[in-house]
Amino acid sequence: MGKKVTVVGAGFYGATTAQRLAEYDVFETVVLTDIIDGKPEGLALDLCQSRPIEGFETRIVGRTTGVDGSGYEVIEGSDIVVITAGLPRKPGMSRMDLLETNAKIVRGVAENVAKYAPHAVVIVVSNPLDEMTALAQLATQFPKNRVMGQAGMLDTARFTNFVAEELKVPVSSVRTLTLGSHGDTMVPVPSRCTVDGKPLADLLPAEKVEELVVRTRNGGAEVVALLKTGSAFYAPSAAAARMARAVAEDSGAVMPVCAWVDGEYGIGGVYLGVEAEIGAAGVRRVVETDLTAPELAGLKEAAEAVRAKQADVADM
Ligand code: APR
Repeated sequence: MGKKVTVVGAGFYGATTAQRLAEYDVFETVVLTDIIDGKPEGLALDLCQSRPIEGFETRIVGRTTGVDGSGYEVIEGSDIVVITAGLPRKPGMSRMDLLETNAKIVRGVAENVAKYAPHAVVIVVSNPLDEMTALAQLATQFPKNRVMGQAGMLDTARFTNFVAEELKVPVSSVRTLTLGSHGDTMVPVPSRCTVDGKPLADLLPAEKVEELVVRTRNGGAEVVALLKTGSAFYAPSAAAARMARAVAEDSGAVMPVCAWVDGEYGIGGVYLGVEAEIGAAGVRRVVETDLTAPELAGLKEAAEAVRAKQADVADM
């Protein structure tokens, strides 16, 4: 049977994710839902009409859902659900400013996902990311490996792009890594950053690396400040779609994602940005990498910061 993936939320992030997933041409069906009457149906129709031109067969189905859960039957049998519902930031806002509003939205969506697609792997992208991922797991009561969040691939891609531009080299020659939270306690891992296999530290002075790290940490805010009416979606949707594809193909790809960490790195019981092997069951395992002492300390600090916030969402 062909694979089915649902994208909840047909805003910029959701619509672009649905487009990328459809254009892969590996899914039988991509479902797009939203609470705005007609929007998902309209976008799905438009996307379907691009099929003869782009040359893919995946069907895209749009459905407006009600706050009472009406319309959710359309997601039945989904192998994967990507949750993009929620408000984006406006200039000057931190991701944490979205906490209460998006917690209500994500809880409602997650409850319907549990009801209508009880076997799905859930990929959360709504912000604040680490907290919304924890909340989606609580609200679905799915096994923790079946709920994960998208952030690390995006942060890492931003870092890689900045390094490539700084050194005027192809992005494909650059490897970077960020772990930790999708926010102030993002942990760049310079010891794992290379250009054509050479350590980044040999190619750029420490102050320059730090400057790029700071720009990466503020990468989302930089885009929000320019757009003024919303937040980034091209790079975020590329990352979320790749995660969904790794699940669909049971590929075992190792990606930086927000995953449940239970003992790895000496950290227990928290959703945190780490590298993980992704397959049909979601997170197959968290992959521990060698970290320097300061990097490990940063990761532990990030874990404690998000742990406190994740505890708060239990009541939201
Ligand atoms: N069910 C389904 N869709 C919903 C719900 C809900 N309960 N509540 C809101 N939505 C929809 C909105 O109607 C809107 O179409 O979510 C969509 C969000 O789209 P945008 O405002 O364009 O925001 P977007 O840029 O897509 O970001 C979505 O991802 O990166 C994060 O911080 C960002 O939390 C935000 C999310």
